[in-house]
Amino acid sequence: MKVKKMNIALAMTVTFIGTSLLAGSAPKEYPGGELGKMVKLGEAILNTTDTHPLTKNLVGDKLQCKSCHLKGSDGKPGTGDGIGTFIGTATAFPAYSKREKTVQSLQDRINNCFMRSMNGKRPIVDTKASMAMATYITWLSQGMPMKMDAKRPCSPKNSNRWAKNAKKFAKIQRKATHANYVHGQKLFEAKCAMCHGQNGEGMGAFPGLWGKDAKGKWIAYNTGAGLSKLNKGAAWVQSNMPLGQGNSLKDQEAADIMLYVDAQPHADFNLQKGLFPRDKMGYYNSKVLKETHSVRSNFKQFGLNVDTIRGDKKIK
Ligand code: HEC
Ligand code: HEC
Repeated sequence: MKVKKMNIALAMTVTFIGTSLLAGSAPKEYPGGELGKMVKLGEAILNTTDTHPLTKNLVGDKLQCKSCHLKGSDGKPGTGDGIGTFIGTATAFPAYSKREKTVQSLQDRINNCFMRSMNGKRPIVDTKASMAMATYITWLSQGMPMKMDAKRPCSPKNSNRWAKNAKKFAKIQRKATHANYVHGQKLFEAKCAMCHGQNGEGMGAFPGLWGKDAKGKWIAYNTGAGLSKLNKGAAWVQSNMPLGQGNSLKDQEAADIMLYVDAQPHADFNLQKGLFPRDKMGYYNSKVLKETHSVRSNFKQFGLNVDTIRGDKKIK
């Protein structure tokens, strides 16, 4: 009996150490002086992006960075171990980005999330908010070896997971029909709505997933965001949701849930609207200056007609 108990304790310790290594965590101590202040400021912005005085005017939805770059067991934004972790992110930059067709800095990559996932405006590189977020995210990789990425601007912990899963889900979703949409809706109501609301509107600390609030403000990411692409959305959700139960959804379940979620209203994306006027925006490090997306075009990318998928109910 005693031996058995010890084995269980040992197994638990090993599992615990195993997961915490995988999860990674922020360094135990903040740096001193001005650097430490910037790390703390960046951390605060990642937690409160849509209300923080330095970023609220740049955000066009009700999300924070930590809505998708989840907190880990240390309670810090971006240290969760699912896809989207910021542990290791700074070791990959400068990195090539296929979307912008240029080599990007960490600030470039961060600021692009404002136009898409945050449905807002791209902060100007080297402004206090931009520098602070990059400082915090860099601190999370303290002590890790450099691992520049010639293919994707993301953490070595995310790079392969995005590539592998995006392929897997694209294959499944290209075959989607209205029946998959109905299946996705049922699963959403059973597994997601208790936190995110029946109509994806969100509740308190649980962020919304689609649509507008009573004042007409968009609640969630726009159609230029990673999560708005059916396959990437499914990859992220399978890895991270339901909250605390990552990796519990089967492939077909995650695929159908995001088919349902991404077929709901999300703001159109127009790159030019996400950029300040030329004389204000500083240098925009991209060769691609025109890019637009809608719910319709995002479905078309997978050979799908969103009206047929929804059962011919027009949206918008
Ligand atoms: C709605 C979800 C969402 C929100 C909110 C969001 N992001 Fe992201 N972010 C993503 C997704 C998805 C990717 C990967 C997309 C891809 O590679 O196509 C990503 C990638 C990144 C990366 C590349 C890092 C890596 O290792 O993968 C950085 C840096 C980043 N985001 C910073 C931010 C910051 C800073 C904020 C807040 C201002 C933010 N993001 C808000 C979804 C989000
Ligand atoms: C127990 C509550 C809970 C459940 C159940 C849950 N989520 Fe979440 N979800 C959250 C929280 C909380 C966050 C944001 C994390 C944070 O802010 O720290 C989140 C974030 C998200 C995001 C990114 C942010 C956004 O609003 O776009 C998506 C997408 C998402 N969840 C989808 C789902 C889906 C799909 C399901 C069902 C499979 C699900 N969630 C189930 C609590 C939950």
